[in-house]
Amino acid sequence: MTSTEPGIAMPEIGRREALGAAGVAACGLALAGCSGGAKAEPVQSIKGKVLAKTADVPVGGGIVVQQYKIVVTQPAKGVFKAYSAVCTHKGCAVGSPKENVITCNCHGSQFAADSGKALKGPATTPLMAYQVKVVGDGVVVA
Ligand code: FES
Repeated sequence: MTSTEPGIAMPEIGRREALGAAGVAACGLALAGCSGGAKAEPVQSIKGKVLAKTADVPVGGGIVVQQYKIVVTQPAKGVFKAYSAVCTHKGCAVGSPKENVITCNCHGSQFAADSGKALKGPATTPLMAYQVKVVGDGVVVA
């Protein structure tokens, strides 16, 4: 049986629809820039893990550790913080901090890199914080 048989209507999928479907699939896999449903990594599953090397986390900035969905910041020299990278608005992945501000590009929420506190909505609740410590040259979940 093929779609060219009389009496069987098969919808054609255009290039735009196909690309849209691919985008949805990629969204579900990659998290970044997607809305809805992502959950923060449970502390007990990452306790003792090295999130990043201290040298890789810029002062006043930070990095997103995709593997754990955690953003590691260094708001002041030698001070390291870590938060869930899952936005408290609708679950998008936040971006790397700049000038001590963590921004979610989905709807523009901003969070303080030194506390995780919501600075600008629509998010109103802080990013979930993780306790971290420096061990050797690594930032480790305490
Ligand atoms: S999901 Fe982050 S601002 Fe909406």
